Amino acid sequence: MSKKVNINYNNLNFELDLVKGSENEIGIDISSLRNNANLITLDPGFKNTGSCKSSITFLDGEKGILRYRGYSIEDLANKANFLEVAYLLIFGELPNKKQLHDFSNDIKERAIIDEDLRIILNSYPRSAHPMGVLSSLTSGLVAFDPSAVNIDDEDDMYDAILNLLAKIPVLVAWVYRRRQGLPLEYGDINLGYVENLAKMMFQRPNKKYIQNDTIVSALNKLLILHADHEQNCSTSTVRIVGSSYAGLFASVSAGISALWGRLHGGANQAVLEMLEKIQNDGGDTKKFMSKAKDKSDPFRLMGFGHRVYKNFDPRAKIIKVAAHEVLKDLGIDDPVLDIAKALEKEALEDNYFVERKLYPNVDFYSGIIYKALEIPNEMFTVMFALGRLPGWIAHWREMRMNKEPIGRPRQIYIGENPRDYISLTKR
Ligand code: ACO
Repeated sequence: MSKKVNINYNNLNFELDLVKGSENEIGIDISSLRNNANLITLDPGFKNTGSCKSSITFLDGEKGILRYRGYSIEDLANKANFLEVAYLLIFGELPNKKQLHDFSNDIKERAIIDEDLRIILNSYPRSAHPMGVLSSLTSGLVAFDPSAVNIDDEDDMYDAILNLLAKIPVLVAWVYRRRQGLPLEYGDINLGYVENLAKMMFQRPNKKYIQNDTIVSALNKLLILHADHEQNCSTSTVRIVGSSYAGLFASVSAGISALWGRLHGGANQAVLEMLEKIQNDGGDTKKFMSKAKDKSDPFRLMGFGHRVYKNFDPRAKIIKVAAHEVLKDLGIDDPVLDIAKALEKEALEDNYFVERKLYPNVDFYSGIIYKALEIPNEMFTVMFALGRLPGWIAHWREMRMNKEPIGRPRQIYIGENPRDYISLTKR
């Protein structure tokens, strides 16, 4: 295989290096192009642009493959727990028993939030969207621990990472409970990470909390499936914000905002709202299929399509099975699921969707599970954010440890050419 690519421009020849990844993906290194040829590349939405070399997650959108640090998502979702996966993503290897034990205990020790943050939380209107509140409280954590992370000091880095992993689930539970009008809780230090999350969210002040293993297992799976997805919109945001040496908490807060949008993490909320809208409209899925295909109609089939999966989303396959299990175990017969099933069947047989390789993505099913767990629609993306936390941390750490330069894309300017200033009286 050739190791170079030649570009001929203005009768001059420029040689560009090829970079090969461990799964044989090949990229053209264009970093010298502007200096040598006075050319830049233009790629809106970065559909064809690699921003970094990364050893965290591999995905092949054509073959429907997703692996964290070399381990298949199927194995991890079915065999591991969320903390093991978080450790794997952040530190590169699965933890042994002692490492996992220490990791889990060190997180528990840090799962305390300054009481003054409660005051901030209680100052928001109860109707505020939980993603905005979570993003703001994550930023707020910086104020209570303003010391910058020394990335050359392993202990300092470990401390910052664990602080975030420990405090965000408490904030997630608090944001949820505040919205529900319930007293804020801390859970139980003796419980595992996901078990404690479930307790912090679902315990009621007037009855004994009994753990439901179906709920814990579904949450564990959902968090693992969302834990990383290489250079998606929110992760790229975390990397680019962190590249200016903004701290870990501030970078993750920006990632939460990026995830909020309905074309990204906000899709899980949008899916449920869409299914409920179809149900309230009489349940005619064919009518909404036509709307999705009509270019003059802004309606899109939420939960369908993906920037990189042009075959199927492997996470969707796992979560589809889990959704059925949860509904069966909890004894839920939800007409919204029938609408989801009908839409899925029609889309998979429809030329418009087949030709454009639009398949159900992970968010098509995750909302159904959250609904079964009685989590309100607006909280779905918050749950996604908690799952994505280890991925954001792993990418922030990798970017800083690789000493990547500040992220700063170029542009092709298409505005006005130089013109004379016109004084206000003459305009
Ligand atoms: N419904 C109807 N048509 C669609 C849909 C959809 N959900 N998704 C894409 N298309 C069509 C587009 O209109 C376009 O058609 P055209 O070629 O005739 O113009 C074609 O398929 C390609 O679509 P793009 O928007 O160019 O694809 P892109 O890769 O940029 O977008 C995205 C991917 C944003 C996920 C898109 O498919 C979408 O909006 N889906 C719905 C939102 C969603 O589910 N997002 C969750 C993503 S998963 C996640 O973030 C975890």
